[in-house]
Amino acid sequence: MSEQSGAGRVVWVTGAGSGMGRAAAVAAAAGGRRIALSGRRADALESVADDVRAAGGEALVVPLDVTDIAAIDAAHARIAETWGGVDDLVLSAGLNTPRRTWENQRIDDFQSVVATNLTAVAAVVQATIADLRRAHGTVVAISSVAGWAFKPGAGIAYAASKTAVGVLCRDLNVAEWQNGVRATHLCPGDVDTDFLSMRPEVPDAANREGMLSPDDVARAVLFALDSPAHVRIDELVITPTHLR
Ligand SMILES: NC(=O)c1ccc[n+]([C@@H]2O[C@H](COP(=O)([O-])OP(=O)(O)OC[C@H]3O[C@@H](n4cnc5c(N)ncnc54)[C@H](OP(=O)(O)O)[C@@H]3O)[C@@H](O)[C@H]2O)c1
Repeated sequence: MSEQSGAGRVVWVTGAGSGMGRAAAVAAAAGGRRIALSGRRADALESVADDVRAAGGEALVVPLDVTDIAAIDAAHARIAETWGGVDDLVLSAGLNTPRRTWENQRIDDFQSVVATNLTAVAAVVQATIADLRRAHGTVVAISSVAGWAFKPGAGIAYAASKTAVGVLCRDLNVAEWQNGVRATHLCPGDVDTDFLSMRPEVPDAANREGMLSPDDVARAVLFALDSPAHVRIDELVITPTHLR
């Protein structure tokens, strides 16, 4: 396997319009990568595209609802037409719901969370697996500490779906390493992003002090992407030092 030098590689980032996806896209661009930016809000993606270009990368805005499986194939086709294929994936699109206990959860919310956090991850990998093999690609799945160890309160659908993302990454690593594909199950603790607005009690500014920043996680994404081809970062757990 060749060294994973970043310049020119095509990285498809989902959830790229904000938070960790945005930070990872801009950080990856600094190495001269070409970044395909997906999410539902085209205006947010256009703004990230400006930041990607300013950081030294190329950007392609590919609006996408990752729960629409046919749309994933169409988005992949557009990236392939433009740049010839996808070399690496950073999968950051995610969903939770404030109604997350046995008292108040709704099964339609449950299905949406699983569709976004788990099925979409599998679907994007499935759509690109031939590209990833050809490119000796890296898949970085932004999961959660709730996918690393049981975390009461994270939400039943959320914790179950993120835990399953860990299984998906392990399976990729076992089944696809001979094809040059590797995966990282990246498990952040609290990160100060818009995502926290989906909590039953939204943390205020004081509660957000000391949380991770999206850039803290982006550094870890780059570590996985930049690691030499014979190195696999199976799992990374990143938490604020104050986490109990
Ligand atoms: N913040 C935390 O404390 C924390 C901790 C651990 C793990 N995480 C995980 O980190 C990931 C990134 O979250 P974040 O904290 O950076 O929050 P964020 O800024 O809210 O990012 C989530 C992104 O997912 C996109 N998204 C949601 N549903 C989508 C869909 N159906 N199709 C396409 N894109 C979709 C959103 O964009 P659009 O709305 O434009 O589609 C948004 O840009 C998530 O997977 C989350 O589970 C977060």
